[in-house]
Amino acid sequence: MNKMDLKGRDFLKLLDYTAEEITYLVDLAADYKKKKKAGELHDTLKGKNVALIFEKTSTRTRCSFEVAAHDLGMGTTYLEPASSQIGKKESIADTARVLAGMFDGIEYRGYGQEIVEELAKYSKVPVWNGLTNEFHPTQMLADLLTIREHFGSLEGIKVAYMGDARYNMANSWMVTCAKMGMDFVACSPKEYFPNAELIETCQAIAKETGATLSFCEDAKEGVKGANVIYTDVWVSMGEPDEIWEERIRDLSPYKVDKDLMDHAAENAIFMHCLPAFHDLKTEIGKEKGEQYNVTELEVTDEVFESERSLVFEEAENRMHTIKAVMAATLGA
Ligand code: CP
Ligand code: NVA
Repeated sequence: MNKMDLKGRDFLKLLDYTAEEITYLVDLAADYKKKKKAGELHDTLKGKNVALIFEKTSTRTRCSFEVAAHDLGMGTTYLEPASSQIGKKESIADTARVLAGMFDGIEYRGYGQEIVEELAKYSKVPVWNGLTNEFHPTQMLADLLTIREHFGSLEGIKVAYMGDARYNMANSWMVTCAKMGMDFVACSPKEYFPNAELIETCQAIAKETGATLSFCEDAKEGVKGANVIYTDVWVSMGEPDEIWEERIRDLSPYKVDKDLMDHAAENAIFMHCLPAFHDLKTEIGKEKGEQYNVTELEVTDEVFESERSLVFEEAENRMHTIKAVMAATLGA
């Protein structure tokens, strides 16, 4: 693998990266994964430190950044939602300049994409997007690695995204498929389709790469020929509690169950960024299940636990791919 120079770059959304750069990051992650499995130390960033800002909660992303940073020899400082001054007593621009003076890189998870873009504008060290309302780019790298490990390549892969197609995960998938020349279909009611401006941007990219992007209200029609059936929670972090009822009503036809999987390609796999509501074993799952008389939401427990489900491979790959992003942008 030839080294590509991404030193000093931010990682805010995949629209900012070329297909070659995205492929390089996935290759690099695969390489780090091999090293990790072989017990080969790779602490080439000793002496560096990264700040991890989380204005929303996290299991996978936080743990991935922490473990990956430690594997690379770096120190980490976690700033939780309630414990920093960001946006409350200190502007994003000031925070960026303060943190950039102490750290070698800054991860940000929070609300609007404009916040992470602003942070990057004022930071002299790389800024990494750990999820915003609009995009979740590190998740995309993990998903591409998982798909590539399973199918051997991304060539000819069709991804069907089921559910709320206006939010971070569907937006990110549409961009990713456009960039990588893959086929993408969003399956949802039309009010939940991605915004027109982003569709237009992605269609222009797709024209160059040979990707196809489509939008379908009929779930069974949409998944025809799809190799990856992807879904996400119906109510995302930061959304108001009152919207559960309409989401369950509007998105139930897009629930991933065995029947839907059987309408996809024969080799179809199931993926989900997690956390998932596939049973009532969580506090919110139990509460909403009882309130709306449902036992599963975006995916049935049967599909989630089936052989076709790659969700835990995908979760592990978050760490290897986040490591690649930090390593490449910090010049490991
Ligand atoms: N998929 C994902 O980003 O998980 P966390 O919210 O746990 O980080
Ligand atoms: N759409 C979800 C993704 C979680 C990884 C959310 O923003 O909560």
